[in-house]
Amino acid sequence: MNDAVIEIHGLVKTFRDFWLRPLASALRGVDLTVGRGDVFGLLGPNGSGKSTTIKLILGLLRPTAGEVRLFGLSPRSRRARARLGYLPELSYLHPFLTARETVLYYAGLSGLDRRTSRERAAELLSRMGLEGSADRAVGGFSKGMARKVAFAAALVSHPELLVLDEPTSGLDPLATRDVKELIRTLAAGGMTVLVTSHQLFDMQDVCTRVSILSQGKVVGEGAVADIVAASADPRHALEDYFAAAVGAKEGNPA
Ligand SMILES: Nc1ncnc2c1ncn2[C@@H]1O[C@H](COP(=O)(O)OP(=O)(O)O)[C@@H](O)[C@H]1O
Ligand SMILES: [Mg+2]
Repeated sequence: MNDAVIEIHGLVKTFRDFWLRPLASALRGVDLTVGRGDVFGLLGPNGSGKSTTIKLILGLLRPTAGEVRLFGLSPRSRRARARLGYLPELSYLHPFLTARETVLYYAGLSGLDRRTSRERAAELLSRMGLEGSADRAVGGFSKGMARKVAFAAALVSHPELLVLDEPTSGLDPLATRDVKELIRTLAAGGMTVLVTSHQLFDMQDVCTRVSILSQGKVVGEGAVADIVAASADPRHALEDYFAAAVGAKEGNPA
């Protein structure tokens, strides 16, 4: 695969305390490749290292060892970062700003001019079904609505790569369905998506490829179509694959 959007080799991240004593081995040698057009699921239980991987991809953390390339560039380069949109695990929306002001704020951060910003904010808010609430303060929004505002903010720069950390966590089933539908629509339009989740059944019908993380290591990797085809129970294919991958690792002390 030459057209890799994200390439990770031998990634290690050890968090240290104030005295530089090792606190936690969050990543212990991770390799992964996200190709153009993939909807890539980084799946694993809480604490397996998903958010740490994302922060290293975004250049928000420095690796202890190993390498991350984003569009073939360093993740700390402005040129690489300008090409991605990021939905954090917890989006800190300012409660007193309206939905429109929030999206305009992020448009400003990504350097868009006022006119383009206003056009894109209106277009994205209506695409999210928020046109009727665009001028209300987001502090009064439901979780699902707030997540859509955060999505609009992440998309305002028209990124080639969208990085979503637990986009469905804490959402009710209808809001979860909306988020999945949105990911599918964006992917159909050619966007590359990296999405993390600990809720496997949410992701089976959205992702094209998955990597399973457990305790900072990749314990399974493959195309979802292959995983489903090889499964005895296709509806629960990803859950069964996950259980086998995590179980195999735990039963096999490294
Ligand atoms: N800033 C930090 N300082 C110390 N330990 C951390 C820090 N961030 C994450 N960790 C630890 O790294 C491991 C992986 O965390 P994380 O990447 O957040 O997992 P996930 O997103 O899969 O739930 C956990 O053991 C967590 O406690
Ligand atoms: Mg996380």
